[in-house]
Amino acid sequence: MSTQPSRRQSALPCLTVVLAAGEGKRMHSRQAKVLHHVAGQAMLAHVLDAVPHGSGDAVAVVVGPNHDAVATVVRKKRPDAQIFIQTERRGTAHAVLAARAALGAATHGDVIVAYGDMPLILPETLNRLRARRALGASVVVLGFHAANPAGYGRLLEKAGQLAAIREERDASPEERALTLCNSGLVAFDGAIILSLLDAIGNANAQGEFYLTDAVEVARQRGLRCDIVLADEGEVLGVNDRLQLAEAEASMQQRLRKRAMLGGATLVDPPSVHLSFDTKIGHDVIIEPQVFIGPGVAIASGAIIHASSHLEGATVGEKVSVGPFARLRPGAVLETEAKVGNFVEIKAALIGAGAKVSHLSYIGDASIGAEANIGAGVITCNYDGFLKYRTKIGAGAFVGSNSALVAPVSIGDGAYVGSGSVITKDVAPDALALERNQQLEKPGWAHKFRISRLAMKAKARP
Ligand code: UD1
Ligand code: MG
Repeated sequence: MSTQPSRRQSALPCLTVVLAAGEGKRMHSRQAKVLHHVAGQAMLAHVLDAVPHGSGDAVAVVVGPNHDAVATVVRKKRPDAQIFIQTERRGTAHAVLAARAALGAATHGDVIVAYGDMPLILPETLNRLRARRALGASVVVLGFHAANPAGYGRLLEKAGQLAAIREERDASPEERALTLCNSGLVAFDGAIILSLLDAIGNANAQGEFYLTDAVEVARQRGLRCDIVLADEGEVLGVNDRLQLAEAEASMQQRLRKRAMLGGATLVDPPSVHLSFDTKIGHDVIIEPQVFIGPGVAIASGAIIHASSHLEGATVGEKVSVGPFARLRPGAVLETEAKVGNFVEIKAALIGAGAKVSHLSYIGDASIGAEANIGAGVITCNYDGFLKYRTKIGAGAFVGSNSALVAPVSIGDGAYVGSGSVITKDVAPDALALERNQQLEKPGWAHKFRISRLAMKAKARP
């Protein structure tokens, strides 16, 4: 995917105004609509990822009143963004004008208006709008052919140009029959956007100030307005949870395609869930039913076996994970490490070539290179109040079903006997055993069986 600016793009930087003031009533949620997640991050964050961020480019986000949580997401993604509040909902042009202070700066060649609920929009599409602007259009609208145009504004063309945008409620039956629709994304000449918006009235069915009316205002002034086309899937706007699921499904398809074209084998692609920031090297194999949450990087040659769950984890080259493994945030697996079935790793470093093969919990720990952790080993990292660390040295061997009560450290090359509860540090190359001496009574079982068989025979009626 190329985010390189087109050569024809205007030389001046770009301001993007993202409208995120919608309440999203149809989501039936206490959370602002634009904060609902797609592929592991808020829809609004996806839009902010797509907007131009070259040198001099700026972003303004228009939020509704009491939308502190929205502002928090914006600041995290684009600390340079300006945030404006639209106190009253009076239409899309009114919403853009909430960012008047940013629009008036007049240092921006292009001003793009985007909606915060269009998570699938791609940076190259925004670049295409700018490239068309650079050819001489004052307003460029991103249009699409809708399978079902109901509810969208229709693009009215005249003599090869965009003449007007007609909202569904204000459209004649002939206009409603058109399927070429407004996606909502528009690029304006930054020098004149304010004068266009200030000329927009609210004489329409909803009594709102429509951004779309900027087209007619521009045409009355003899300015050129153009259409750039996008696929309907890319401009999907999310208004309810069904559309949220649709957006998620398309985003997953896009991410899986990118992973496969980048050299990863997905054995059963539809059953693999990826996140917006998943990094996957070449020759990685991902088996069916794998969930990858945010913050995961998988290096080349690694294999993620079936039914594993990863988030915030770094998987080194040629590492083997699962089946049925869980890597939680802070899990770092170095080259050729192995984490096997029913193993959970949290905030722990597993050194190169180390093995944690079966049924273990390793949390707040570091395990040295080539160490072997037996089945059922648990790091007891929590006393109900605080967390403590466990350190296991290189080449150490921890026998099955041992409990390592942190804080504790096992020296390089040390052995821990199976079933031990280790509460004190173990020196390098030592053997630590914590269990009773084995007691053995020769012939006891044979005598026991004979006596019990006799008792059973007597008891029978
Ligand atoms: C809008 C377009 C329509 C287009 C459609 C695409 C207008 C007048 N119409 O219609 O041509 O086909 O999007 O989905 O622009 N918003 C505010 N403050 C407001 C009003 C709206 O922030 O006062 C935000 C909304 O939260 C939303 C966006 O602007 O994110 C669009 O508003 P909405 O009311 O959904 O417009 P549509 O009727 O869908
Ligand atoms: Mg809408």
